[in-house]
Amino acid sequence: MPAHGPFETTHRAADGRYDGQEYRRTGNSGLDLPAFSFGLWQKFGTDHPYETQREIVLHAFDLGITHFDNANRYGPPHRAAEKFFGTVLRRDLAPYRDELILSTKAGNPIGPSPYHRGGSRKSLLTSLDHSLRDLGTDYVDIFYSHSPDPATPLEETVGALVTAVRSGKALYAGISNYAPERAHEAAESLRRAGVPLLVHQPRYSIFDRRPEINGLLKLAAEDGFGLVVYSPLAQGLLTNKYLDGTIPPDARARNSAFLSADDIDDTYRERATALNEIAQRRGQSLAQLALQWVLRQPQVTSALIGASSTWQLDHNTRALDFPPLTDEELALIDQHGVHGTGVRV
Ligand SMILES: NC(=O)c1ccc[n+]([C@@H]2O[C@H](COP(=O)([O-])OP(=O)(O)OC[C@H]3O[C@@H](n4cnc5c(N)ncnc54)[C@H](OP(=O)(O)O)[C@@H]3O)[C@@H](O)[C@H]2O)c1
Repeated sequence: MPAHGPFETTHRAADGRYDGQEYRRTGNSGLDLPAFSFGLWQKFGTDHPYETQREIVLHAFDLGITHFDNANRYGPPHRAAEKFFGTVLRRDLAPYRDELILSTKAGNPIGPSPYHRGGSRKSLLTSLDHSLRDLGTDYVDIFYSHSPDPATPLEETVGALVTAVRSGKALYAGISNYAPERAHEAAESLRRAGVPLLVHQPRYSIFDRRPEINGLLKLAAEDGFGLVVYSPLAQGLLTNKYLDGTIPPDARARNSAFLSADDIDDTYRERATALNEIAQRRGQSLAQLALQWVLRQPQVTSALIGASSTWQLDHNTRALDFPPLTDEELALIDQHGVHGTGVRV
């Protein structure tokens, strides 16, 4: 008899997994999310070994990371990351489905078909069905409109999110990459439909200050939705891995279409080195400082991180073990954390 009844699993989750992780309330909802959520955007396609990917995901769950973020696009090829997660869910995590918050997104292009892109009802709802098949689950916890689609009426996109929730295929609705004005319209429209906006997923880091500049942080508080902020390490630029002028062989700047060696220039290195010195004076790493920095904002429910090793996960999730950042430290970080450094804005 397998350890978990009818499920054929080889994994028994760590008993103390909820002890070391902080859980934070998402906006005005009743849902708590872990301070660190895990995303499968990079290195979870078919071009990386399944066993390494599996080890990282199971380790994340053992650390109390209950929230796993996916999208129909993630791979390569598109849909591969969801298929991968579906396999782990079936083989290892099925007994824990009710302890998992799974999200997926649709709307960004995944192929030449006009129905494989955009915010139409057809695009979003057929993609959701496909994601459920790939993930091997009856429902996702959060279904996102991946990006605003100016060519589709917002009511249609919002209507598709409402249908997803009303049909039970998603428990909550989210939006991502929406500018504040459109985010507010979406929040209002969802509220009128009785499906409050749970969460917005923007990019936010010491090197990407848009949510501060454009008022999204303020809007989140006013409209009562949470923020799950992605790329809080600026894809690895806010770690010490690129500081010595070389690019390690397995680093994302070598093997991703979204970060290149050109992004790592002298200006970047000068600023990141200064930030690293602030972190060192606090007895932490630059990665830990960068994560603590986004999580200092009460509107930020969760920092959505990636990792290519269990070491990175262990290291990064200790970011909240340090004393809060002081006003003096925040002012110093502002001096060197210049918006747009190393990231394409
Ligand atoms: N909604 C959207 O449009 C959107 C867009 C992008 C991302 N996202 C979501 O956000 C998630 C996270 O994005 P992200 O991966 O860019 O986040 P990130 O946390 O900024 O970057 C993670 C990467 O940094 C490197 N790294 C992490 N910790 C490190 C450490 N301690 N030392 C050295 N290197 C370290 C690793 O890359 P290497 O080791 O490979 O160099 C790791 O994969 C995605 O998976 C996805 O779920 C959403």
